[in-house]
Amino acid sequence: MGTGTTAAYDAHADWYNDFMSPAAGEYLRRVHATIAELLGPGDGICLDVCCGTGAHAPAVADLGWTPVGVDLSAGQLRHALHRLPVAVADAAALPFADASLPAAVCVLASTDVPDYGAVIADIARVLQPGGRFVHLGVHPCFIGAFADWSGQPRVVVDERYADREHTFETWNPDGVRARVGGWHIPLADLLNAVMTAGLHLDRVTETGGNAVPDLFAFTATKP
Ligand SMILES: C[S@@+](CC[C@H](N)C(=O)[O-])C[C@H]1O[C@@H](n2cnc3c(N)ncnc32)[C@H](O)[C@@H]1O
Repeated sequence: MGTGTTAAYDAHADWYNDFMSPAAGEYLRRVHATIAELLGPGDGICLDVCCGTGAHAPAVADLGWTPVGVDLSAGQLRHALHRLPVAVADAAALPFADASLPAAVCVLASTDVPDYGAVIADIARVLQPGGRFVHLGVHPCFIGAFADWSGQPRVVVDERYADREHTFETWNPDGVRARVGGWHIPLADLLNAVMTAGLHLDRVTETGGNAVPDLFAFTATKP
């Protein structure tokens, strides 16, 4: 599933490393609080799928897990190397045996692949029975090319919600999507992908810095 998007991350990896750093402030704290709430304490490997620069490895390790990352962008992994063991691998073809891992997270990457359902399916394949998967991503209903946040706290959503093609369109010229573009996965597609993968949805959460939620996350377990 490698695409031009990962090459784009190679070009922007130094920028991304700064962007997804403690300087991200409230946003990153909210991401890490959500990981803590949904992943919970545990031990053994927690696979960080599309780990990027490894910004969330400390949050996963703080829970007792051993984070191990995979990503396709060598540029991103150059930063991640300092934070967790990593491998260059496609999220939809994970280099792990069936039913071999107790936990996995995928953070802020559902809009970076053309078929996130294939990623969820491969995560389900590598999870042990009882293993847990935490998805955390931009809110599918309120973040994307179809949503204009320039008049906050009012957010305007338009008919492009149904579009799934890769696009660089965004209201924010300084954000990630203006640099690397992104795909959109509508809410129903995201939740259906969990069920198609044979995972059990345990808990769903949405959070926002203002009244409209910008993050959507869930825990799903392998029966
Ligand atoms: C927005 S970044 C998120 C990185 C990290 N999870 C975080 O929250 O900071 C998306 C990441 O997905 C990676 N990626 C995109 N397609 C991928 C694929 N098919 N397999 C593995 N990684 C991929 C990119 O290289 C990039 O590092």
